[in-house]
Amino acid sequence: MCIISLYPNLKKQYNNEFMAKRHSRTADRFKMQKVDIKKALTEKADAVNSKIAAILKEWTGIPKKLADALDYVLAAPGKRIRAAIVLWCCELIEGKENDDALNAAAAIEMVHTYSLVHDDLPAMDDDDFRRGRPSCHKAFDEATAVLAGDALLTMAFEIIAAKISDAKKAVEMMRVLAEAAGPAGMIAGQVNDLAAQNNSNSSEELHDIHINKTAKMFRASALLGAIAADADEKQRETLALFGLTLGLGFQVADDIIDVSSTSSQLGKTAGKDAKQGKLTYPAVFGLEKSKENARQIAQKAVDILKPFGDKAAVLKELALALVDRTK
Ligand code: IPE
Ligand code: IPE
Ligand code: MG
Ligand code: MG
Ligand code: MG
Repeated sequence: MCIISLYPNLKKQYNNEFMAKRHSRTADRFKMQKVDIKKALTEKADAVNSKIAAILKEWTGIPKKLADALDYVLAAPGKRIRAAIVLWCCELIEGKENDDALNAAAAIEMVHTYSLVHDDLPAMDDDDFRRGRPSCHKAFDEATAVLAGDALLTMAFEIIAAKISDAKKAVEMMRVLAEAAGPAGMIAGQVNDLAAQNNSNSSEELHDIHINKTAKMFRASALLGAIAADADEKQRETLALFGLTLGLGFQVADDIIDVSSTSSQLGKTAGKDAKQGKLTYPAVFGLEKSKENARQIAQKAVDILKPFGDKAAVLKELALALVDRTK
């Protein structure tokens, strides 16, 4: 006989707890299902796009050609994933997004956009299409693309210096962004990506490139949101690791969709990595194993968020969606 049936009160309590747990699990699932990640991302993209447009409007003294190039690359339909991570990490800690997070989101999207403008140059990946339009150097010219990239990178730090509400937060944000984008971060990744082209099949090197060229900027996005919300050390550590892990998965997925999506889906030239002999996950592990890797990495990112429970539902959904995307 089950011990619970010997104690009617205990049994009643057990049943109540069981039912409560079951109810809350169903409610959780309902809540998880309610995250419409596409819609949620569009909302965040709209918010950061408005912020970027407002910032650009305030700026004076930019030569017309450069201003046109900046408008052109910033108005193009980027997914704004890094901005969304900033805003959602802030919301996770503070319960809502704040203006510091919005400014930081605009800043990191500017740094990211600069990296794409330069990445597409003939001296780098030589891609004529970006975000569904001619790349900056095709729509304008190479010198303008170089200078527009320089401008975007510089503007990002001015935005943080000028607009963040608290000087200590601003300094922390600048450091996080500079470390992620700098010579031991994204630029290291870009240098090594080019060096490995037609020259390496090493999985360690591949991992290192992806961590540097992409994952560190995702880590920075999460940290910017955490700083905007005044997160404590433990929360920052957890979110930083989430960002880094998600960023790695994101770049593995980028390698995968270069193989499996079309140029019109991607808004950039498909199939270029293999043609250029890039060191990618599909090149080293094959397509199927790469997909499995991407999913495992996304699950790892989801698991890192466990301490936050359901409050992190949207970030968890984002992690799963990003490795299964087609663009
Ligand atoms: C492309 O980034 C470059 C990578 C680091 C993979 P995204 O795929 O986020 O590009 P946009 O901003 O949506 O155009
Ligand atoms: C780009 O990696 C990473 C950065 C821009 C830092 P890729 O070269 O694979 O990006 P796409 O595929 O051109 O967007
Ligand atoms: Mg590249
Ligand atoms: Mg490229
Ligand atoms: Mg790519």
